[in-house]
Amino acid sequence: MAHLESRKHVSPDSGFAIALHPHFNPKISNHVPPEPLREEIVPEKDRALFADPEKKALFSIAKRVDLTESVGTVLENVQLSQLDPQQLDELALLVTERGVVFFRDQDLTTDGQVKLFEHYGTLDRHPSQKDSRHVVIRGSREDHREILKYTPWPSGDFHADTSFEINPPSYSLLRMEEHPEVGGDTAWVSTYGLYDALSDAMKRFVDGLHAVHTSRLQYDSILDLWGVGPNRPPIDSHHPAVRTHPVTGLKALNVNPGFVTAFAELKRVESDKLLDFFAYHIHSADDHAVRWKWAVGSVAMWDNRCTNHRVIPGTYDAPRRGIRTTVFGEKRELVSCSPIYTETEANLYECSVL
Ligand SMILES: [Fe+2]
Repeated sequence: MAHLESRKHVSPDSGFAIALHPHFNPKISNHVPPEPLREEIVPEKDRALFADPEKKALFSIAKRVDLTESVGTVLENVQLSQLDPQQLDELALLVTERGVVFFRDQDLTTDGQVKLFEHYGTLDRHPSQKDSRHVVIRGSREDHREILKYTPWPSGDFHADTSFEINPPSYSLLRMEEHPEVGGDTAWVSTYGLYDALSDAMKRFVDGLHAVHTSRLQYDSILDLWGVGPNRPPIDSHHPAVRTHPVTGLKALNVNPGFVTAFAELKRVESDKLLDFFAYHIHSADDHAVRWKWAVGSVAMWDNRCTNHRVIPGTYDAPRRGIRTTVFGEKRELVSCSPIYTETEANLYECSVL
C-alpha cells in the first residue's frame, strides 16, 4: 500500500494517511476510460431452464457431496472437460440450487474453460479486464479493513461479482492454476438463506427497497491501489434489495457490503444503519456459509444471483493465480412467482412484476 496517493498526505495530528476525495487524487481525476457505459441487454435464456430437474445425466457419472445443509456441493468422479451439453445444463441447475459447486483435480485448460462457459451465455468482462474472455484472479494478502483507512472500497468484503452492472453476471467459474499450500480460501454465503433468516416484518420492509450498487468506490480504489485503469466510467445501479431467482423462483437478498452503499428509498442515516445490520447479518451467517480450501486444479462454479463471496485475507507467500470466466445475467427483478409444474416443464414459473 506504500504507493497509495493518500500515503503522501499524512495528518500531522494523527500521523495516519488522509483518505483523499477522488477529485484531489490525480491518478483518479486524470483517468479517461476508453469505453462508454454499457446499455441494458437481454441475455440468452438461462441454460438451467433446459435441464432435467432430476439431473439424471450428470448424476449418472458424478457423486454429489453436500458441504453444508444450505450451500455448497462437491461433485466427485467427474471432469468438467468431459461433460456434454445436457450435463452442463444440469450442472447449471444444481448451481442455482446449491449456490456454488466445487470440483478437484480438473484437467480443464483456459481455452477449454472459455469454451465451456460460452455454453452458458455471452462472456462478461470486468471493468478492469483487458483480455476479452477471462480475468486473472490473484491473491489478496491485504486486509480490506486496513485498506479502508486509505481508500473507500472494501475490496476484500462479501460481494456478488460486479453487482453494480445493469446486467450483473449470473454464473462465474474460477479455476486455480497456482495456489499456496495454506491460505487464500474463499467463503460463499447463500443469499437465499440470508433472506429466509429475516423476520417476516423485515422481509416486507426490505422487499420494498432498492439497493444502490456502485462501481465508484472500486473505480477509485483500483486506480490508486492497483494502478489499473478501468475500461468504463463508474456506474450506480438501483437494483431491488430482494430479487427473485429466475430459475428457482426463490427470493434472495440482493445486498452486499462490497458494492452496496445505500438504499434508494431511505434517508442517509437510516440507510447507513441498515447497511451496518446487513454487514453483521452476512458475516454472522455461519449456517448459510461455506468455506473452500483451494488447490491447483480446483474449480468453483457459483451463481451470483443467490450467493455472495469473499476471499479470506492472509499472509501466505506462494503465488495464487486463478482464471475466472463470467456470463451476463438478466436485469435483477423482484417478482411474485407461482411455480407451474407440468410433466415436461418443471422449471417454468408464471411471474408478475410487483
Ligand atoms: Fe468475486
